Amino acid sequence: MCGIVGYIGTKSALPILVKGLRRLEYRGYDSAGIAVLNQQSEKNSETTIERVRAVGKIDNLAEKLKTMTLNSTMGIAHTRWATHGGVTEENAHPHTDCSGDIIVVHNGIIENYRELRSGFLKDHTLRSKTDTEILAHLIEVHYQGDLRLAVQKALQHVRGTYGLVVMHKNEPRKLVAARLGSPLVVGVGDKEYYVASDTSPMLAYTQQVIFLDDGEIAEITDHGLQIFNLEDQEIIKAAEHIDWNEDQAEKGGYSHFMLKEIIDQPTVIKDALRGRLVEDEGTAHLGGLNMTEAQMHSVNRIILIACGTASYAALVGKYAFERLAGIPTDVEVASEFRYRDPIIDRQTLVFGVSQSGETADTIAALREAKRKGAYVRGIVNVVGSTIARETDGGTYIHAGPELAVASTKAYTNMVAVLLMYALQFGRTRRVTVATGQRVVAALREVSEKMEKILRQGDYIKMLAEKYQHYKNFFFLGRGINYPVALEGSLKLKEITYIHSEAYPGGEMKHGPIALLSPDFPVFAILTKNQLYDKMRSNIEEIRARQAPVILIATEGDEQAKELADDVIFVPPTMELLEPLINTLPLQLFAYHMAVLLGRDVDRPRNLAKSVTVE
Ligand code: M6R
Repeated sequence: MCGIVGYIGTKSALPILVKGLRRLEYRGYDSAGIAVLNQQSEKNSETTIERVRAVGKIDNLAEKLKTMTLNSTMGIAHTRWATHGGVTEENAHPHTDCSGDIIVVHNGIIENYRELRSGFLKDHTLRSKTDTEILAHLIEVHYQGDLRLAVQKALQHVRGTYGLVVMHKNEPRKLVAARLGSPLVVGVGDKEYYVASDTSPMLAYTQQVIFLDDGEIAEITDHGLQIFNLEDQEIIKAAEHIDWNEDQAEKGGYSHFMLKEIIDQPTVIKDALRGRLVEDEGTAHLGGLNMTEAQMHSVNRIILIACGTASYAALVGKYAFERLAGIPTDVEVASEFRYRDPIIDRQTLVFGVSQSGETADTIAALREAKRKGAYVRGIVNVVGSTIARETDGGTYIHAGPELAVASTKAYTNMVAVLLMYALQFGRTRRVTVATGQRVVAALREVSEKMEKILRQGDYIKMLAEKYQHYKNFFFLGRGINYPVALEGSLKLKEITYIHSEAYPGGEMKHGPIALLSPDFPVFAILTKNQLYDKMRSNIEEIRARQAPVILIATEGDEQAKELADDVIFVPPTMELLEPLINTLPLQLFAYHMAVLLGRDVDRPRNLAKSVTVE
């Protein structure tokens, strides 16, 4: 996720900005840049904007800066994590308008940037492939000597999310910052202000901060800070004292990246859906598919290739493609697929599903599929990664950088994207507008339902306390919830090192039931769907063997309480969307168990975040 740092005050800006960028490195980035208003010398009062950008590590940027004399006490800086446009110096922030007098850094996504580029701003000279550059040009259009007013007007054209900071050469002692959906914090020091996407770059200097809320614009000068809303009314906000250290600040105050990433899910799922759902037509439009309607109709088989958590997200995709589009779909674990002799032809559509886009087995399997003539597309988180580059199209899941080794938010965003693809294909085949509209509406409601589950964090922690001493667990689900059981079991194994097994509920009596005893708790997903009665019978069989039962059940299901030792209630949703809801309690349970057992939650033993070797 991109990072922003800005400074205005009495100290030399450059070291503060570079150090601030380093504090933001944890968010992940692929390029970095800095801009300062440079006063030539005491005698020559002319102000120029100096901008330096570099691809790769902040060290590359710092190396370039060594050769320059940048004499300034204000500036802005940015680490970019590519979302629109490749990883190049031209696409790195800060971006300027046509004149080069306005300079902007931005986090978030401007959804309508293509329309603005070819319409309202068609006469402007755009130098990058980013959505951000649009902002500089919109401000240019509205600038009449007051930067804040120009930003306010410019933002009225924009659909999407932003946290941005802007400078103008003609107003050399002013920063303007604005927020909608992408966090910004202002640090208040002694005759100086900091602005950043989180508090970590400013904590070495001040602990007095003001968190901007959505729709607020801050005008920051040497004389003070004023905050306005988009209607130009002033908002009075007092600074608050925070006593986080820098490490806590990186994690947004949470103790681990994994917890932060679990909590991020209601926000990032909106990023996956943004601009891709078409309410009127009851469909989704994932432009990156790069297939004509005729090609889409010719597809008679889908193969989803992935590893680990991504393969469980893919399994949800299988159910969705088959149910909505009626296309036979298989999930193949990449390490197996690459050494089989898979039957693929020109009517097969292969998706590689990967958070990192760098998993060696998945890359090799996709190359094999390509060689055999299939349509090969990627569903990937990391922009510009190998899978993103080597496939002939696909979709970014927009989960933002995932830093904990155990995947959480990438899983839910992969599921969301796969559901949208299934809907898009389904609408060209057998799904009616009305059904499509129901899926779209249900997808829109997921974020709020996720919030509801996260509010039960303390209760789930209490369950972890109760069950922390057990050495074995089963996870059971049926239908669309079987992948949820697999994912819950994997989360528990990888971060607690507790043995766990996942099975489809109906399979227990074919062998695994022999393991059951009062020492072998069973986590079962019993939500109200078409397999409810079947799953209920499976749970009765388990209870008869005296195994403790923890249920994930639908709110209001009173019978669930009678069946289980403990129940986590979840809000109802459309059956196909249940994994987006039901997986969250399992992530939280695994997380709290790992903390209680003193495990290294974010870096579990023997595991790597990105498995780039075979
Ligand atoms: O980057 P990818 O999504 O391709 O990674 C696939 C797996 O290595 C990954 O999901 C792994 O299973 C995680 N540790 C699960 O939490």
